[in-house]
Amino acid sequence: MNKRKIMIAPSILSARFTHLEEDALRAEKGGADMLHLDIMDGHFVPNISFGPAIVKQLRPFVSIPFDTHLMISHPLEYIEKFADAGSDWITVHAECDDCISKSISMIKDLGVKTGLSLNPPTPFSEARDHMEDLDLLLIMTVNPGFSGQKFMTEVMDKLKEAKTFIDENDLDIDIMVDGGIGRQNADVVTRNGGNMLVAGNAAFGGDEPIASNITAIRKKALEGHL
Ligand code: DX5
Ligand code: ZN
Repeated sequence: MNKRKIMIAPSILSARFTHLEEDALRAEKGGADMLHLDIMDGHFVPNISFGPAIVKQLRPFVSIPFDTHLMISHPLEYIEKFADAGSDWITVHAECDDCISKSISMIKDLGVKTGLSLNPPTPFSEARDHMEDLDLLLIMTVNPGFSGQKFMTEVMDKLKEAKTFIDENDLDIDIMVDGGIGRQNADVVTRNGGNMLVAGNAAFGGDEPIASNITAIRKKALEGHL
C-alpha cells in the first residue's frame, strides 16, 4: 500500500477577508502545507466567494502552494485565469456543466496539478475514467457552498473505495477530503485513506491561534495515518 504524506490545507474561506494576508501568513508559519482557495460562483453553489484578482494579489505574500477548488459551473472559462493568478493545483467538479475531460486537459496543459472533486452524492464511478490523468481526487464531506457544516461520515465508504482503486492500480494520486474536518475527526479521514485535509473553521475559527489549530489537526490526522 502506498503511504502518502499528510498535508493540511487551511481554507481561507474561514479567514478574515479584511486581514487575508495576515491570516494566510499565520497559516503558513503555523505549518500549513498549502492554502485551500474556495471559489464559488453563486450558480454551482448558492454562495459567492472571490475570484482570480484576489488570488493574484495574495500570491506574492505567501510561499506555500495555492490549491484552488473551483465550485463553479463553467471551469473552462476560468481555469487559465486562476492558473495565471498563481494556482499550483486546480480542482474542478465532476458535476459541473463543462466537459470534464476538456477541463482536466486544460489544467494539465497549463502545467498545474490537476484535481477532480466529487460531491457527497456523486459515486466514485464518475471519477474512475479520469483517474489516470489526475494528481488529486477531492472527496467532499459536506455539500459545497459554506464552511462550518457537519462532516458526513457516510462518505467514508466512497473514500475507501477510491483509496483501494488508487492502490490496486498503483496510481500516483493524493486524496483530499473537504468539509467539517477538525481536530476531533481528522483521524477518521486518514484511517479511510485521505491524506490531504482541508480545514476551514477548524483552522481559522475559535479562540486558539491558527498554528495551534493546525498542529492539533495534524496530530489527530497522524493517529489514523495508513
Ligand atoms: C465547502 C468548501 C470547504 C469549506 C471547508 O464548500 O469547499 O473547503 O470551506 O470549511 P470547513 O472546514 O469549515 O467545513
Ligand atoms: Zn473546498
